[in-house]
Amino acid sequence: MRAIAIDGPAGAGKSTVARRVAERLGAKYIDTGAFYRALALKAREAGVSADDEEALARLWAESEIALEGAGGAVRIRLDGRDVTEAIRRPEIGAAASRVARHPAVRAAVVARLRHLAEREAVVMDGRDIGTVVLPEARIKIFLTASPEARARRRHAELAAAGYAVRFEDVLAELVARDRQDMTRETAPLRKAPDAIEIDTTDKSIEEVVGAIVALAEAQHQAFLSVEGR
Ligand code: CDP
Ligand code: CDP
Repeated sequence: MRAIAIDGPAGAGKSTVARRVAERLGAKYIDTGAFYRALALKAREAGVSADDEEALARLWAESEIALEGAGGAVRIRLDGRDVTEAIRRPEIGAAASRVARHPAVRAAVVARLRHLAEREAVVMDGRDIGTVVLPEARIKIFLTASPEARARRRHAELAAAGYAVRFEDVLAELVARDRQDMTRETAPLRKAPDAIEIDTTDKSIEEVVGAIVALAEAQHQAFLSVEGR
């Protein structure tokens, strides 16, 4: 399968890195967290509890969630409305993590994601891509960074977007979300046995992107030499 799977905790750099890797390799970037975030936003607006698995699954079935555009300009559409910015609100990250605990929700999202990866070369980022969604992916990356570094990055991002949030609150939210994502029963966040772990704490985005692109190119060369025999 012509896919690159990138997993890891919040703020490890997954979406920034995955987007650039996709651009460099001419693949499609798929932000899987956006699906859980969009469903969480819709549930909030509809007054559906993040604990109500059945109602959430129903809400997903009647929702139209689409990723539009390519490269750095991907927009997220929910029932025809552009929610690209709305789903980045800090409270939606926490709500998405609660929505994402439910097996019925995950099964529906995973089926959609697999379908997207069948059609073209993709770089997909999330929590369970290498373990559950695309276990056959050619390259699996597990990105990490210290909680402080990840909270600093997320805090800077939120400040730039105009949110007045305290660093301590961002750190606490991030640590709580990691715990929820790593301890849930269905598809918890964990490194696939065959994933390569990259600690990005002291690495620039370009360094990480370069390392993944080099891995993809080396694999492609190996594939060609086997084919040519
Ligand atoms: O997708 P994920 O939550 O894993 O992280 P992200 O949204 O891609 O990255 C969070 C922030 O950290 C972004 O503003 C990136 O520019 C920044 N970042 C960084 O400073 N250094 C890295 N090596 C990776 C990301
Ligand atoms: O960008 P950030 O890492 O903060 O979050 P995200 O990737 O947008 O994901 C938001 C939440 O959705 C995560 O905390 C997970 O609970 C859930 N998620 C998941 O369970 N599986 C995925 N493949 C992607 C996201």
